[in-house]
Amino acid sequence: MVESTIKIKTLITAEQIQKRVSELGKEITNYYGNKVSEKKPLVIIIVQKGASIFGSDLVRKIKLPSDLRFMRVVSYKGETRPQSDPEIFDEIKSGIKGDNVLVVEDILDTGKTLVFIEDYLTKLQPMSLNFATLLVKKIKRKTKAPRIKFMGFHIPNKFVVGYGLDFNEIYRNLPYIGVMEN
Ligand code: IMP
Ligand code: MG
Repeated sequence: MVESTIKIKTLITAEQIQKRVSELGKEITNYYGNKVSEKKPLVIIIVQKGASIFGSDLVRKIKLPSDLRFMRVVSYKGETRPQSDPEIFDEIKSGIKGDNVLVVEDILDTGKTLVFIEDYLTKLQPMSLNFATLLVKKIKRKTKAPRIKFMGFHIPNKFVVGYGLDFNEIYRNLPYIGVMEN
């Protein structure tokens, strides 16, 4: 890691993350407990690549029959601000009509990505659609973002990396969340 030139200041420690992820797993398990079954599992859609680490930890704390799916939305293209509208790279292959769907995202920033995902998935007629996101940035949003049912932490309006979040594809493997300085 090039930590000689770029400093990363810890914002949320690995231990804090793991504790919160366990709590979220319990909340989700309680919420969907009587809504899903082996015949009708909870469809968990993990948004790549940012939510891949959070998602893989979270699903192991959800004690319910679950069907894991993945989708990819790209908007950042190596910048610290959104550069274009999100585009979906992978389809939700086998359909979600009539399913209870939980979308797992890394962070709510402007809200553009989740609005886009919500519109896209709503057209596929799930029975229910909820969002779990690890982080929510405290900012004034122009877009009315979807309601986040399961949320990990509020963070200040800073660019963060680690635990799945990247800068130019680097730092996703940090076990903690940090703020990039300079
Ligand atoms: P939004 O569409 O502006 O809400 O941005 C959402 C996406 O941008 C997230 O899914 C992240 O992949 C990325 N993103 C937003 N803020 C950050 C950040 O602070 N660090 C790294 N990625 C971010
Ligand atoms: Mg993302």
